[in-house]
Amino acid sequence: MRAVAVIGAGQMGTGIAQTVAQHGMQVLLADVDRARAEAGKANIDKALGKLVGRGKMEIAEAEALLGRISPVSDYTPMTDAELIIEAATEREEIKKAIFEAAGKQLASGAIMASNTSSIPITRMGNYAPDPARFIGLHFFNPVPVMGLIEVIPGLATAQETTDRITAFARSLGKEVVLSQDEPGFVVNRILLPMINEAIFVLGQSTANIEDIDKGCRLGLNHPMGPLELADFVGLDTCFEIIKVLYATTGDSKYRPAPLLVKYVEAGWLGRKTGRGFYDYSGDAPVPTR
Ligand code: CAA
Repeated sequence: MRAVAVIGAGQMGTGIAQTVAQHGMQVLLADVDRARAEAGKANIDKALGKLVGRGKMEIAEAEALLGRISPVSDYTPMTDAELIIEAATEREEIKKAIFEAAGKQLASGAIMASNTSSIPITRMGNYAPDPARFIGLHFFNPVPVMGLIEVIPGLATAQETTDRITAFARSLGKEVVLSQDEPGFVVNRILLPMINEAIFVLGQSTANIEDIDKGCRLGLNHPMGPLELADFVGLDTCFEIIKVLYATTGDSKYRPAPLLVKYVEAGWLGRKTGRGFYDYSGDAPVPTR
């Protein structure tokens, strides 16, 4: 692909933009306005600065990479993109509005993909101009580091779309897992019940935050415990995903843990708000319970 558009300049969108640009492609980066798209690019600059500082990337490479990322004010320039990737907030009405607006700029033959963590691809395909050219392309955070992408064709997705997107994902140096369009796909279907269960364990005072995380880090060899990972993903995102699993299956095993609901209601959404299960205001995260 020559040019890829990314809609959403938050944690996931900037990670996707950085990774795509790192592999030599031009990236158009959009958000609700130009200032947010510029702020997203500034965050990528910061991440690259750290890599250069640690000797992991040459300064010339970082500059060239950054030069391939163009923040845009609206979707008009996306007529040049062969692929539009939506990586906005995990709320269906927001994504629907994006697919309808950006769909007007989708070139004939270009593909529209969603980085949704859990919303059905088949249903969202109807919001795009051509469901045959619509697909799920699910990245993992931090995108430049994680080696996996899930590819999720909807019922109406053409085989050619799946093949082109799989080739694109591999061109980013990632392994691909193909998932049917079922709630949570593969990884989140397994991950979110674990995170939710950890919050039940905390809510029932079986153990404190530190010990729950330590248990999974040392007992399961996970790089992060489930509560630190929940903070990393964002508690609002975790809540949205577990709600989708619960609503689409009707299975009570997916009911959101009451403490997760409370934290979201309090606006304690994890790292991005400075507080979740840990407090991030100091040099090192401190457990809050
Ligand atoms: N760009 C490029 N490289 C980066 C980077 C960036 N933006 N940020 C970090 N890195 C690199 C670092 O340079 C470092 O490289 P080396 O190993 O070569 O030194 C490496 O990534 C690790 O970074 P750090 O040393 O800073 O941090 P760490 O060793 O503590 O690891 C972590 C951090 C990679 C996040 C690790 O804790 C981890 O793997 N955690 C679990 C992450 C996870 O499970 N993600 C999936 C979440 S679920 C999801 O995303 C799906 C969803 O829909 C909810």
